[in-house]
Amino acid sequence: MKKGLVMAALSLLLVAPAAVMAAGADDYNTKGCGACHGADGTKAQGAIPKLAGKPAAALAEKLKGYRDGTVKTPMAGLMSNNAKVKSLTDAEIDGIAQWLGSK
Ligand code: HEC
Repeated sequence: MKKGLVMAALSLLLVAPAAVMAAGADDYNTKGCGACHGADGTKAQGAIPKLAGKPAAALAEKLKGYRDGTVKTPMAGLMSNNAKVKSLTDAEIDGIAQWLGSK
């Protein structure tokens, strides 16, 4: 019984990151991020920075800053005035950041 529980916990640990990333990809697409950042976060044009392949922790921190209105760069309004960015939960942000960071 105990062994079964340990095995179940271990398999959850292995599955969770994939599930988090899949949710992140889904959120990125449904929240319209690709309209500016490109379908896979690789577009960099004008003020728009490339996202793919950057460290997930840094992406998550930046996203939380835009959501909470603490990033004050000249073009930050394009992010922090976006209703979909404002409504992101911490869990959604972490998923999106992990997915982008893994690219
Ligand atoms: C209207 C266009 C637009 C949309 C839509 C948009 N972004 Fe952005 N994003 C920008 C711009 C412009 C910047 C750079 C702002 C600045 O200079 O601080 C940015 C910056 C970022 C950054 C910081 C990157 C870095 O390395 O500093 C992240 C992460 C990000 N966006 C993720 C997202 C996600 C996730 C979504 C969807 C929820 C999204 N963006 C939707 C235009 C957009």
